Amino acid sequence: MNSTLPVFCLQDDERLVILYVCAHIAVMYDHTANTQHLLQGHCSPISCVCVSEDRRWLVTADRGQDSLVIVWDTYTGIPVRTLFDCHPEGGTVALALSHDSKHLVMVGTGEVQQRLCVWGLEPANQRVLCCMTELPDAFGTQRHILFHPNDNTQLLSTSESRVLFHQWQSSTFNKAVGAFSQSVFHSGWTQAFSATALGNVLIWAPKAGAAGGYTALKLVPLQDNAITVLTQMDSYIVTGDSKGHVKFYGSSLKMLSHYSDMNLDCISSLSFGTKEPSGALGHPQDCTLAAKPLPIRNLVVSTDTAVVVHVTSEGGRVQTLLREHADSLQAVACHPHHPIVAMGSNSGILKLWDYEQKQLVCSRLFQKDPRIQCLAYDPHGVHLAVGFAGGGVCVLHGCSLHSEEMDSLPYCTHSITHSVTHMAFSHDSLYLATADEGRAVTLFRLCCEEKEEQRWSYQGRHHSHYLPIQELLFGEQLDTGLPRLLSLGQDRRLVEYDLQGSGGDRLVVLSAERVEQSGVPTCMCWYPPLTTESFLLTTSHLYKMKLYNSTTKMCRKTLLGPCFGSPLRKMMLLPKNSEGDPSARYMAYITTDKVGLQILPLDGNPHRCSAQLCHSTGVTSMAVSHEGRYAFTAGGTDCTAFCWEISLSALEAAAALGGKDLEPFYSLLEGGRDGELFREMEDYFYYSQLRSQGMDSMETRQVSTHIPLAEVPFVMRALGFYPTEQELEDMQNEVKFSRYAETGQYVTQVDLPEFIRLFVNHRPAQGLQLHELQWAFSVLGESHTATGHTHITRDTLLELLQARGEHMTEEELAECFSSLLGVSPEGGRLEWGRTSWQDADALLEKDIPEEITLETFVKGILGFPLSNPEASLASTNASSLTPARDTSAPPT
Ligand SMILES: *[C@@H]1O[C@H](CO)[C@@H](O)[C@H](O)[C@H]1NC(C)=O
Ligand SMILES: *[C@@H]1O[C@H](CO)[C@@H](O)[C@H](O)[C@H]1NC(C)=O
Repeated sequence: MNSTLPVFCLQDDERLVILYVCAHIAVMYDHTANTQHLLQGHCSPISCVCVSEDRRWLVTADRGQDSLVIVWDTYTGIPVRTLFDCHPEGGTVALALSHDSKHLVMVGTGEVQQRLCVWGLEPANQRVLCCMTELPDAFGTQRHILFHPNDNTQLLSTSESRVLFHQWQSSTFNKAVGAFSQSVFHSGWTQAFSATALGNVLIWAPKAGAAGGYTALKLVPLQDNAITVLTQMDSYIVTGDSKGHVKFYGSSLKMLSHYSDMNLDCISSLSFGTKEPSGALGHPQDCTLAAKPLPIRNLVVSTDTAVVVHVTSEGGRVQTLLREHADSLQAVACHPHHPIVAMGSNSGILKLWDYEQKQLVCSRLFQKDPRIQCLAYDPHGVHLAVGFAGGGVCVLHGCSLHSEEMDSLPYCTHSITHSVTHMAFSHDSLYLATADEGRAVTLFRLCCEEKEEQRWSYQGRHHSHYLPIQELLFGEQLDTGLPRLLSLGQDRRLVEYDLQGSGGDRLVVLSAERVEQSGVPTCMCWYPPLTTESFLLTTSHLYKMKLYNSTTKMCRKTLLGPCFGSPLRKMMLLPKNSEGDPSARYMAYITTDKVGLQILPLDGNPHRCSAQLCHSTGVTSMAVSHEGRYAFTAGGTDCTAFCWEISLSALEAAAALGGKDLEPFYSLLEGGRDGELFREMEDYFYYSQLRSQGMDSMETRQVSTHIPLAEVPFVMRALGFYPTEQELEDMQNEVKFSRYAETGQYVTQVDLPEFIRLFVNHRPAQGLQLHELQWAFSVLGESHTATGHTHITRDTLLELLQARGEHMTEEELAECFSSLLGVSPEGGRLEWGRTSWQDADALLEKDIPEEITLETFVKGILGFPLSNPEASLASTNASSLTPARDTSAPPT
C-alpha cells in the first residue's frame, strides 16, 4: 500500500471494509470476508483520494501524463464519472468532496502555477466549473484541502507555511507562520483549526461582519509531538501525531480521551467507523474528574510504515488489518510445489503468502541489512535464498523462513559489498549461483559430507562481465544431466562456467561468446523442448528474440519479439497445464512497466503475445506460480506486489482473431497484402530468379516459386533493409538448418512466404531511425566552428568504411556507391568488370562532396526522403525512415 495516502473506513458495522491505495489501483479490502475489490482505471500512481461523508462515493486522482479524476461508487465498485484534463499542468495533489457530495474541489500540482478548481457534480452527466483560482507561489504548495461542512462556498487549504480560507469568487488569504500539517472547519462551532509540526493548534475565528475571511484567534500548545492528522469526529476534534497517539478534544480544546498504547509510529490518516456510537456502555471514560463515558466511534488508523489498525471504541480492541511493506518492494518468488509466494522489500520484511487461502504463512524481519533485492526458491522447495543490497546472501527454509545460521553465507559477509541482482539454483538443488552489481558471478555448493549437517560452501567467484549482468541461468547437460551455468551481460557476452572444474576459490569459465552486434541483451531463458534441438532464448533492446543452439551457441533463429513500448526485462516459461493448446507452450514476461504472455513456438506473429500495464512506475521482478495459473509482479518503488490470473484461452482467442498462416505477417508489411511493398517484394522475387540464372542467359527461363538462398541479401537490400554481414550469416543459417534436425538436409532456397517471414522478423523492429544516423554523425563527424553543422569528410567516411566494423573492400565500396548514386544501373557488377579502380576513384570524387552532412548522406546518398533534417534534429520523437520507392519503373 501507499502509506502516505489516507486509509478510509468504508464500513465497520456487519463487515469491516477499508479502502487504501496501491500504486495506480484503489483497493477495497473486506477484512471480514478476506477479499479485495480492485478499482482499476488510472494509468499513473494515484496521488490523492477522498470519500464522501456517507462513504458512498470515492474520488481518486493521479498526477501522471493525461491525469484523470475518477468518481467511484463504493457500493458497486464501478467508476461513475471520469473527469479528463482537470489539471493538465501535471495532475492533482489534493481533492475534497463537499458534505452533500455536490461539489468537488481539486488543487493542481503547481509545477507551473498552482491552481484550485471547484467543480459542480450535478447534473450527473455534466461537470460545471464553479470557480478557478491561481494560488500565489509565495503561499507554498497547498497539500490539503476541505469544504466547510455547512457552506460549500467556503474552503480551507493548508500548505506548510500558510492556511488559506477561500470563498468562491473572492479568495481571501490569511497568513501565519509555522509548519502546518492539516486544518479543519468545525461544523458545530464557528471556528476553524490548524495543526502544526510543533504540536500547536491555531484557532481561527470568522471576521466579524465582513464577507468571509478568518483571523487567527490564538495559538494553543496542545502536545509535544508533531500533529500529523487533524480531523473532526461528531463534535470532537481529533489529532494523530508522530508518536502514534490519537487524542480527542472537546470544547475549548480540552482533552477528553486518548489512545496511546497502540504501539504505532507516525500516524498518516484517521478514519471513523460508520456505526453511530450507541449507548454508553464500554466506551472509554473521559479524562474529566467525573469520568463520564465518552461515546466515540470506531476508528481506522494508518501509519507511515504501512500499518493499518482498527480500534473499537467499546472495549478498545486493537486489530491489525494490514502490515505492509513501507519501502521499495523488489523481489518475488513462487514456491515450486505449494501455493506460496515470497515477497521481500527494502524495509526488511520477508513474507510468505498463501495465494489460494489469501493469508500470511509466515514472515520475518531482517534488521542488519534490511534491503532485500532478490529471492529464489530451489527446485525442491526446501531452500529459499535471499539476496541483499549489501551483498549478503541468506538461505532459509522454504516454508518456515527458519535458518540455522542467522548470518549470510560465508564469503558474502566480508568480501562482497555489491548488491545481489540475480540468484539461481541448479535443477538438483546442489548449486546456488549469484550475480551482483560488481559484475561478478559467485558459486556456492551444498556440502553434505557429514550426514546431519548441510552447509552451503563458497566455491568461487569470477568477474566475468564488464557491464551489468542481465541473467544468470542453470541448465542441464544433454548427455550427462549434470548442471551447467550460464550468464549473459549488457556487454553482450554469453559466458558459460565449468562447474565440475570449479571449487577451492576458483570459478572457471568454460566459454564466452559475443551474441549481439548492436542489440543489448536484456534477458534469457531456456526454450521449451518443442523441437528436437535444445535452444537458449535471448531478447535484446531492439525487440528481437533469438534462439541459440545451446551447445554450439550458433544463432539459429531471429524473431520479432513483443513490441509494447519497452524491451523485455524477464521471461519465464509457464509449466504445462490443462488450459490452452496442448501442442503449444506459454511464456510470461515483463517489460519496463507491463506484464504479458507469449505463445510458443515463437514465429514473430505479433498477435501471439499480449501485454498489460502492471506498475506504471516500473516493475522490478516477476514470478510464476507452480501450476501456471498466476503471475506475480513486484513494483519496486510503489511498494506493491500484484497477482495476475493467467487466461490462456483468452490469449489463444486473441491470437486466432489475428488471422491464420501468413495473414498476420502480411499485415506487418506497410500497406498489407494489397500494398505496394508486397507487390514490390513479388517483383524483386521474380527478378531475382532471372538474375540467378544469369541476365544474359539465352536458355529457356525456369519459373519457380523459390529463389536460391544466396539471392536473399540482394532482395532484402532492394526492399530497404540493410542487414550487416553477421545478420546475413544468421539469416542464411536460419534457413539452411531449418529442417536439419528432422531431415538431416540443408535447405538452400526460400519461397515467398518464407521470405516474408524472414524479412519481417529480421528487419529492424522500429525501422531505420533518423536519430541513429544523427548519433553516428555526432560521434564520427566534426562540427564546423562557424555554422555548428556536423559533417564527415569524404576521406574519413571512405576510410572508416574500409577499416572499421565489418569493413568493406575498395571494390565493394565502389560497387555500393555507384549503385547508390545511380551511376551504374544495377548491382554494378557488370559495369565493374569493365571499369578499372582508378575510374571508380574518380567517380567517387566526382559524385560525393568533400564534406558530407547528414542531409547529403540521407537524401543524396542513401536516397531517403527527408523533409527538414534540422527540424527533425531538434524534435525528440524519433522519426522512422523509409526508402523512397521509385514506383515508375519496375525492374526489368
Ligand atoms: C504515494 O503517493 C504519493 C503521492 O502521489 C507519491 O508521491 C509517492 O511516491 C507514493 N508512494 C509510493 C510508495 O508509491
Ligand atoms: C545444435 O546442437 C546439437 C546438440 O544440441 C547438435 O547435435 C547440432 O548439430 C547443433 N546444430 C547446429 C546446426 O549446430
